[in-house]
Amino acid sequence: MKNKEEKIDWNQVIDSLSEKNEAFVEDKFVKPWLKTFFGYDEDAMTRQDSPKGSKKRTDILALGDNEKFSVIVEVKHHGSKDFPDFNPETGIVSDFEQLTEYLRTFYDNVNKSYIPIGIFTDGERILVVRNYYGMVFPIIYIKNLKSGKGVVYWSNEIVKTIKKKLNEPVILTTYNNKGGVGKTTVSYILANYLSKVKKKSVLALDFDPLQSDFSRLFHLDSGEFYDVIDWLEGTVDKKDKKKAMSMRDGNLVLALAKANESSNEAMKKGNLNKYSSLSGSITKINSSAKTISKLMKQGITIPQPGTTTPLHRKFDVVIIDSPPGWWYYSMLAISLSDVIIPPINFNNGSSVINLVRFTNQYFPELFKHLNPTTKEEKINFLNLRSPIFSHMIINFFDKNDKEVKEKDLDQVVARYLEKEIKDSFIRNSLFRNERADGISGRTFDAIRLPLNRSINQLSSLALEDKDRKKVENEVLKLGEILVSDLFPFMRS
Ligand SMILES: Nc1ncnc2c1ncn2[C@@H]1O[C@H](COP(=O)(O)OP(=O)(O)OP(=O)(O)O)[C@@H](O)[C@H]1O
Ligand SMILES: [Mg+2]
Repeated sequence: MKNKEEKIDWNQVIDSLSEKNEAFVEDKFVKPWLKTFFGYDEDAMTRQDSPKGSKKRTDILALGDNEKFSVIVEVKHHGSKDFPDFNPETGIVSDFEQLTEYLRTFYDNVNKSYIPIGIFTDGERILVVRNYYGMVFPIIYIKNLKSGKGVVYWSNEIVKTIKKKLNEPVILTTYNNKGGVGKTTVSYILANYLSKVKKKSVLALDFDPLQSDFSRLFHLDSGEFYDVIDWLEGTVDKKDKKKAMSMRDGNLVLALAKANESSNEAMKKGNLNKYSSLSGSITKINSSAKTISKLMKQGITIPQPGTTTPLHRKFDVVIIDSPPGWWYYSMLAISLSDVIIPPINFNNGSSVINLVRFTNQYFPELFKHLNPTTKEEKINFLNLRSPIFSHMIINFFDKNDKEVKEKDLDQVVARYLEKEIKDSFIRNSLFRNERADGISGRTFDAIRLPLNRSINQLSSLALEDKDRKKVENEVLKLGEILVSDLFPFMRS
């Protein structure tokens, strides 16, 4: 492999692409590049028909093996205007819809497994996305392969980074700045279903120190707990008697935000005025986010209550339950996440308006300050931290409500989203091709989570055993609805 790298003058190859069409870029650059740096054989790189029988075909599907990951590459002509754009000022990555579509639909032909990586390139610019069972989000953005340290360096870095990223947990955060929309309920349903039914190793983080609802749903509301962020950052003595977390069955680990400190402490910590300026608090959030995401990637050591043996674990999925509002804990949750799952209350328009405020104002503001920091990073940075939105969760959906028809639902939400979020990053994940049908078609990806009486009982602590069983069954049923849409290819 080393020899081949030396034989090809990659700068020259890229220069030769200038203004050339897609087929040229594919033959002269993409295939040799995949062979040299990723190690795919010629005959492992194919075009793939859609299993659904549509006319769509992937540009390149490179099949991996035990050692290598598989990848779908979408090739554009050199200098294409259709190239997804990352705006480092706002954290917005636009338009990789088609690649997402491929990754979500082309898995089935190939050994019945999903393709974990997608690459978008015009022969010079590269965007890499990760596909976690159908949830697709960007992980690497290279503005220009030729810049700085050059093609060979960046190509090797890309391969290295992809391999690393594939071992990292996917971090999901439920968020809406509006309260009471079902953030905690959705977090709870997902944590239970993914760990119990899908057998994923799940870390559940309660980032809401004022209410600790997530912890309470797991019946962990008494005793002394670390503040989860202090604990994640490693600033507490882990031999301390306080409970850092509690294990639930083999796959699920819960970490609590609840401190034995009073809520005042949490308020103080979360109070941005504690820091002299907005940029001061941003600095704090940024450094916490960096420390914590590094720890989550390496796996974390869990002190088990009642024993002296700490346990080192890596996780498939991390679920962060964010508090409402826009302050330290929610900003940190957003900064850490790969994917934001936004619930709205179907009967409450202001839950949509709040979401729009977040996507159009708070989110860009935060990312302007967070990422990236140096000029060098702005030109070339591998570790993209720019969460996308998953499907919107339309919660409290009552299909028996005579007032509400499916079509109205699309109209209600589309009225806000179509108009307000038209040009923002949210389009990539919430809006799909069907957008062209207008509001009468299915204009956004949303999951209807029904109004559910027994879910309501979750918050009641004094459940009788038989009721608890009933509620837990409901939780798993709702988990099926959520997960089959969020992660359509996930098998246990
Ligand atoms: N689909 C549903 N059907 C019936 N009740 C629900 C549903 N989803 C949530 N609830 C109930 O609504 C209340 C608010 O839900 P939840 O606590 O999950 O919202 P939240 O967004 O986390 O709130 P907060 O902003 O206070 O953290 C809870 O009592 C919960 O049991
Ligand atoms: Mg909550």
